[in-house]
Amino acid sequence: MDKKAKLDTAFLGQPRGLSTLFFTEMWERFSYYGMRAILIFYMILAVKDGGLGFDQTTAASVMSIYGSLVYMSGVIGGWLSDRIWGSRKTVFIGGVLIMLGHISLSIPGGSAALFASIAFIVAGTGLLKPNVSEMVGGLYSETDRRRDAGFSLFVFGINFGAAVAPILVPWASDGFGMNLFGGHINYHAGFALAAIGMFFGLLQYYFDGKKYLPSESNYPKDPIERENMKSIIIWTVIAIVALVAVVGLLGAMGNLNIDSIIWLITVIAIALPIIYFVTMLNSRKVEKVEKSRVWAYIPLFVAAAMFWGIEESGSSILALFAANRTVLHLGGWHFQAANFQLLNPLFIMILTPVFVVIWSKWKNQPSAPGKFAAGLVIAGLSYVFIAMPGLLYGTSGRVSPLWLVGSWFIVEIAEMLISPIGLSLTTKLAPKAFTAQMMSMWFLSNSAGQAINAQIVKFYTPGTEVQYFLAVGGASVVLGIILFFFVKPIHKLMAGIN
Ligand code: GLN
Ligand code: ALA
Repeated sequence: MDKKAKLDTAFLGQPRGLSTLFFTEMWERFSYYGMRAILIFYMILAVKDGGLGFDQTTAASVMSIYGSLVYMSGVIGGWLSDRIWGSRKTVFIGGVLIMLGHISLSIPGGSAALFASIAFIVAGTGLLKPNVSEMVGGLYSETDRRRDAGFSLFVFGINFGAAVAPILVPWASDGFGMNLFGGHINYHAGFALAAIGMFFGLLQYYFDGKKYLPSESNYPKDPIERENMKSIIIWTVIAIVALVAVVGLLGAMGNLNIDSIIWLITVIAIALPIIYFVTMLNSRKVEKVEKSRVWAYIPLFVAAAMFWGIEESGSSILALFAANRTVLHLGGWHFQAANFQLLNPLFIMILTPVFVVIWSKWKNQPSAPGKFAAGLVIAGLSYVFIAMPGLLYGTSGRVSPLWLVGSWFIVEIAEMLISPIGLSLTTKLAPKAFTAQMMSMWFLSNSAGQAINAQIVKFYTPGTEVQYFLAVGGASVVLGIILFFFVKPIHKLMAGIN
């Protein structure tokens, strides 16, 4: 980076380009989390009322596998940016696809529109999300000490967008309280608002980005050479043929349905990180000490997947809990079940400054694996907490919304111990030859967690609520305790990284 960029402090002391990326990602997350807040309710709403009429289990499973795909597609998005398009263009194309995805759902088009929307948003987010984060890193030179603060600000933008959306998007679905839809909920209006949000993000990105994003972002970092082209095409064709063959086989056996497709994606989401780990550990480009660090990353990856499984269930299982089991008012203040999605990002915004102070003051603070272990135990406790109302009062009535508030508060403490720590650790443990892939691995931990959710949500029924929360929460607590015993050896494998 040149001198001028180093001196650029135009956005709250950070380079001006951060403002562009901050607002792009804020709007993108606004559209994503706004859509997520209402999607499950749109799926389970009866067809006669304008919904899709899915049963609750299928809807929760689709929510999870959709989330899994969104974080899986980053693998391809990162690659396209690195090798072909450069990040600037990749992000723009991604934003356009995302907007098209929300537009698909803003028109009443039944499940066909839903699946088209999922395809657009999975592809679009894969192109946009990893590359917009990568561009944030690119604003700073190696020695620029503002980098961490810049990322914190960026994460604040994510959560700000994610917090506003679950208020505004459900409100739009409700005709802004103006009885626009004859007293009915019209989710298409909500999806339209999500599309408009992404549109603002794109406008801003296009015009502001032209002026303030570094020109390097217009070029791929590691452009494909002609001689590699052939093998890339061959592998792409093999992958597509294999996928088509499996889907064709399922079809021929008469088994091509939502369930089997979800199974297929679950298997891919679990296989993909395994393939990555095996490749890195066997690569001649990875030095011995780097391999040791990859080994250290494996248990942390498993822990992260467990954590994201619980955290991401907020928009599937806990959304159902909000709709079926929660009193939807607090005194005279009424709200929609979708509004609860605000709690996750809100608590992140509140807790982030608290943790910044804790980490800066605490001299003998635990190492990263120690924080992960604590995070898993705490995430598990959030599930134990939400099992309580069922245990205390039975599972047939409705309980105070404060139970959900409490559970979200607990899981967000865990998120503070895992998400920012994991992100930074991922960059530090990455072998040099696999930096970009290792970043994808971080998102793949979320993808794997949600893929497993897509299967286990089948055990969540009104009658099994308590057992479900205790079993999954208990698994997280136990995994966390096991991890505590391995903190030292893992730390040793990290070979000097903290
Ligand atoms: N909530 C985070 C986001 O939207 C999740 C990212 C992750 O899985 N690492 O950015
Ligand atoms: N928890 C979600 C993410 O970290 C909103 O940004």
